[in-house]
Amino acid sequence: MYRVLLTDHMCKEAVAVFAAYPEIEIVSEGTLSDAELASRLPDFDAVIIRSPTKLTREIIAAGKKLKFIGRAGVGVDNIDVEAANAMGIAVLYVPAGNAISTAEHTVGMILAVARRIPEADRSMRARRWDRGRLVGMELHGKTLGIIGLGRVGREVARHMLGFSMRVIAADPNVSGEQGARDGVTMVDLETLLHESHVISIHVALTRDTAGLISDAHVAAMREGVLLVNCSRGEVVDEGAVQRGLESGKLAAVGLDVFAQEPPGDTTTFSHPRSVFTPHLGAATPEARIRVAVHIAESVANALMTGEMRDVFVGRPDGAGGTRA
Ligand code: MLT
Repeated sequence: MYRVLLTDHMCKEAVAVFAAYPEIEIVSEGTLSDAELASRLPDFDAVIIRSPTKLTREIIAAGKKLKFIGRAGVGVDNIDVEAANAMGIAVLYVPAGNAISTAEHTVGMILAVARRIPEADRSMRARRWDRGRLVGMELHGKTLGIIGLGRVGREVARHMLGFSMRVIAADPNVSGEQGARDGVTMVDLETLLHESHVISIHVALTRDTAGLISDAHVAAMREGVLLVNCSRGEVVDEGAVQRGLESGKLAAVGLDVFAQEPPGDTTTFSHPRSVFTPHLGAATPEARIRVAVHIAESVANALMTGEMRDVFVGRPDGAGGTRA
């Protein structure tokens, strides 16, 4: 008999997957505190988490018979993968299940900041009719720069090409030919910063990408650029964003992710044209169910057969990892 701990309120569809496996007993919980998690883990062969749960080296070490960690999502930055691997524990994740939802949210953010929709909505609710002031930016013919042309980045490109934007991207893992197949021109980061009217970030958080956008990068951007981040907060230096907004270099930002979630008090929130959402990129029932069912099937199958799909292997230097 195997035991699997489901945390972070996994949906009933994921729970239902295990009905086909009488050899697996599941325990379904909400988000547990670190102490609760550490005290419960020794009884389980696998644990499945979403993003609220952080699996540090110490917590993972408490899972004395843990064989698999399942991440219902694509980002594994809340798991010490290197430590898990060193303890012989495999980390399984879901590479594709929420890319569509995240891309759709990104498109919404781009439109919201370009056309100042939330600001206009607030103005209307205050009984104003501010047509002269709330002038936006047409996207047609402008350049969108995508940093990270993975699944989400490609999906954003596909949508924004439909708006007749010129789409360029910087990604060391994507060749010019691959980009061209998606209608995207691959460039280096410097060119992207220099040429883009709108910049959207779609990279995983690793030691390589933490602080990727700094003051120097903001300085290299076009005057009045729009910056959207629906990837991970730590990829952008929040101080640099703040300074960019104050100087007017950044006309507005659309941020769905923050270095600390929920974020502390930041003056960025007082910027009227900018738009903020609480990490909602993948927050649709469709994406949530898709990733939860996928990871439940992966973990159940791995326990029963030893065969693993979608394994994330940590790199010893912590800089990223391999998505197998
Ligand atoms: C992901 O990493 O899959 C998304 O950011 C959503 C989440 O954090 O679970």
